[in-house]
Amino acid sequence: MRERRIENIEIAPSLLSADFARLADDIGRVEAAGCRVLHLDVMDGHFVPNLTIGPVVAAAIRRVTSLRLGAHLMIEEPERYLSAFAEAGVDEITIHQEIAGDFVAVIREIKRLGLRAGVSTRPGTAVEKIVPALPLVDLILVMSVEPGFGGQAFLPGSVERIAETRRLADETGREITVAVDGGITIETAPQAAAAGARELIAGSAVFKGDIQRNIDALRAAVTDC
Ligand code: DX5
Ligand code: ZN
Repeated sequence: MRERRIENIEIAPSLLSADFARLADDIGRVEAAGCRVLHLDVMDGHFVPNLTIGPVVAAAIRRVTSLRLGAHLMIEEPERYLSAFAEAGVDEITIHQEIAGDFVAVIREIKRLGLRAGVSTRPGTAVEKIVPALPLVDLILVMSVEPGFGGQAFLPGSVERIAETRRLADETGREITVAVDGGITIETAPQAAAAGARELIAGSAVFKGDIQRNIDALRAAVTDC
C-alpha cells in the first residue's frame, strides 16, 4: 500500500478545551506528546459572544512552557492589547480581518513589536479580503466554525476556503503558514491537510479523553491523505 505523509504538519492544541484549573498539567501533556505550538483563544464578549482569557493568563502560561504561543484575538480593537500580549511573552498574534478598524495597520504593529503576525477570517468572509495583508503576515488562520466556542462541527465549504487560502499564500512566494481552526477531528484533519493546511488547531479533539492518544490519532490521521 502506498503511503504518503504530508510533512511538517503541526497539531496546535487549543487550550480552550483544557482544564483551566490544571492548565500546567495539560500543557505538560501536550509537550510530552511532542506538540510545538499552543493556541490561546482570546474572546471579549463583543467580537464573539464569549469571554475567555487575557494577557494575565497568557503570562502565567508563558512561565510554565517554552512552546510557541499563538494568541488568537477574537476581539474588537485588538490594537489596544498588542503590547500587553507581547509583554506576556506570546510569540505570535492573530487578529481578524473583520474588525472595525484597519486590520493591515494592526498587523503592521504586531510585526513592529517583533512578533509573528496572523490574520483570520470567519467562515462567512471571502478569503480574498486578506489580500492587503499578504506582504506582512506569517500565518493565515481559516476559521472552519463560527468563532466563539469549542466543540462545534467543521463547516461545509471549509476545505475550499483552505485551498483558496493556500493558493493565495503560495502566490506570494513567501513562507506563510496556513492554519485551520474549528471542528478538527480525525475525520476532518486529513481533509484540511490535503487542502493545504499545515497547522491544525484542535481543542476538544485533543483535550477530551487521553491527550497523548488523541494527539497520536490526529497525527496518524494526516498520514496517507
Ligand atoms: C473557536 C476557537 C477555537 C476552538 C476550537 O472560536 O477559535 O480555537 O478552541 O475548538 P474545537 O477544536 O473543539 O472546535
Ligand atoms: Zn482559535
